[in-house]
Amino acid sequence: MKHNEVVPYEDVNADKKSQVTSMFDKIAPYYDVLNRVLTVGIDQRWRKKAIASLGEQHYERILDIATGTADLPVAMKKQLNVDQIVGLDISPKMIELGKKKITEKKLDESVSLEVGDSEQMRFEDNYFQAATASFGVRNFSDLQQGLNEIYRVLDKQGKLMILEFSKPTIFPFKQLFNMYFKYILPTVGKLTSKDPKAYKYLYESVQAFPDYEDMANIIRKSGFTNVKYTPLTLGICTIYTGEK
Ligand SMILES: C[S@@+](CC[C@H](N)C(=O)[O-])C[C@H]1O[C@@H](n2cnc3c(N)ncnc32)[C@H](O)[C@@H]1O
Repeated sequence: MKHNEVVPYEDVNADKKSQVTSMFDKIAPYYDVLNRVLTVGIDQRWRKKAIASLGEQHYERILDIATGTADLPVAMKKQLNVDQIVGLDISPKMIELGKKKITEKKLDESVSLEVGDSEQMRFEDNYFQAATASFGVRNFSDLQQGLNEIYRVLDKQGKLMILEFSKPTIFPFKQLFNMYFKYILPTVGKLTSKDPKAYKYLYESVQAFPDYEDMANIIRKSGFTNVKYTPLTLGICTIYTGEK
């Protein structure tokens, strides 16, 4: 199956975009806790490493695509020299919870969050100096279009950083992780998130999604240069970087 054909609810007659939106609206209240539990907290370390790939330069504006509950903007404000971060997400519920988090962390002046579709953005060309996306692009309906759109809003030499799940390749970790990802994670997710399909979709969408060199080539196809990738934790996820 092609990655854009993998949807959360196979029995529902709605396109991927609206299915993904309602899935994240539904699991939003449980999203942060499940992230920490299911990855035993490693997700925060992955984000930190991914952010470090953006270097120490000064950024006026960074766009965080598929920002969810704004974990990446919060971590970027701590780690990077950045004036303004805009977080965009298609799920109103995720944005609502993200906004609460930003206010709690007293980041309202430098981080703004809004509901929007990354595949069709309101921003003008060349507006941001960097664009980031953690665990988001896998959910796009049209990955190439999403990447083209990110390219458009990036300034010349603007930086791209994508953190996304990949498939471990090394025996026996590959097999062990697959058992966890396919059976244990969806069971825990089903019991806690109140959405029996969401964490099955997570497994299936990762299996169908391009990784490593395949993903790097798709990123290059949108015009990005100097595209590199670094697998983390034996390939559970991978950082992709590139430049306009
Ligand atoms: C797995 S969450 C990741 C959230 C956050 N970046 C993180 O690291 O925790 C994926 C997010 O992508 C969002 N999303 C999916 N498709 C999108 C699109 N076309 N435009 C904007 N956001 C999208 C979902 O609503 C969801 O909040």
